[in-house]
Amino acid sequence: MNSSIPEIKAFGKDRLLKLGIGTWGIGGYMTKTPYSDYVNEIAQIKYQINKGLTLLDCWIAQGEGGSLELIRQSIEEFDRKSLTLLCKFDIHKYKDINELEEVFNKYLKQLNIRYIDVFQIHKPDFKNISEKELEKFLKRKIAEGKVIKFAVSNANIESIKNIQKKIDIPIEANEILYNIFNREYEHDGTIEYCVKNGIKILAYRPINRGMANIAHANTEFANLVLKYGVTPSQLALNWLLQKKNVMALIKSSNRAHINENLDCMSIELSKDDIKILDNWSL
Ligand SMILES: NC(=O)c1ccc[n+]([C@@H]2O[C@H](COP(=O)([O-])OP(=O)(O)OC[C@H]3O[C@@H](n4cnc5c(N)ncnc54)[C@H](OP(=O)(O)O)[C@@H]3O)[C@@H](O)[C@H]2O)c1
Repeated sequence: MNSSIPEIKAFGKDRLLKLGIGTWGIGGYMTKTPYSDYVNEIAQIKYQINKGLTLLDCWIAQGEGGSLELIRQSIEEFDRKSLTLLCKFDIHKYKDINELEEVFNKYLKQLNIRYIDVFQIHKPDFKNISEKELEKFLKRKIAEGKVIKFAVSNANIESIKNIQKKIDIPIEANEILYNIFNREYEHDGTIEYCVKNGIKILAYRPINRGMANIAHANTEFANLVLKYGVTPSQLALNWLLQKKNVMALIKSSNRAHINENLDCMSIELSKDDIKILDNWSL
């Protein structure tokens, strides 16, 4: 079974494993939208899975459930065991553990699945559900085979340490805002701590919502775009993916963009240029 996040190998022939499918806006944003091109969204998710991107980001709140419906339709023809579904839980918004159970069951029903590969706390805030209650809940789900791995999202170093102290289940990954323009989690030590402790980094918004393509004229970043003959998105993505233990969740419903993003894998940045980008900021 391939339920855990794939092992993040050196940046070599397994590069593709370092990309996962982002789904923000698919089937709606915070409300269901009648404007999405559902047929296209489903076709592009299937295309990415066929290209080897088997990690999918799922958030029940999105599009009032519309997003999960499109994901369900996209994955139904694939071998379930070949996919890793990351499912987010807004535990800070649920009134109690019963509500968490309800949302958990909704995920299973709406995605038509029997288990969740990666149960993720969307925001580590335990005001309504305590760490101990969550630990008990998760241990039961793991014992029943309904959850395989536990992960967090938007957790800084303090939150991670708190969770490690109070919840006796290893943290598989931390999904955070991380791209060449946003280094907050580098600066506060979260990324270094996660990498040292075997917690994978799932970088969301890896090309800054498509903004990588603007606002950097006449900078070292722009010079390297020209030097390598790549697009700004490709450079931003490649810089991120050559990092140890870092994967990126990228969203695109546009076939040309998807292919462009996949092609970023073939760029070989020199060590010196990686250093330039490591130290670069807008
Ligand atoms: N855990 C959290 O709190 C959290 C928060 C935010 C996001 N996420 C997850 O992370 C995923 C990725 O983040 P994101 O969607 O915010 O940002 P992103 O992946 O950095 O950028 C997506 C945007 O860029 C466009 N795009 C994609 N490839 C492009 C290219 N090569 N050239 C130009 N534009 C391109 C897409 O439009 P087209 O569709 O037209 O290509 C889309 O508008 C999300 O989809 C979501 O699953 C998680």
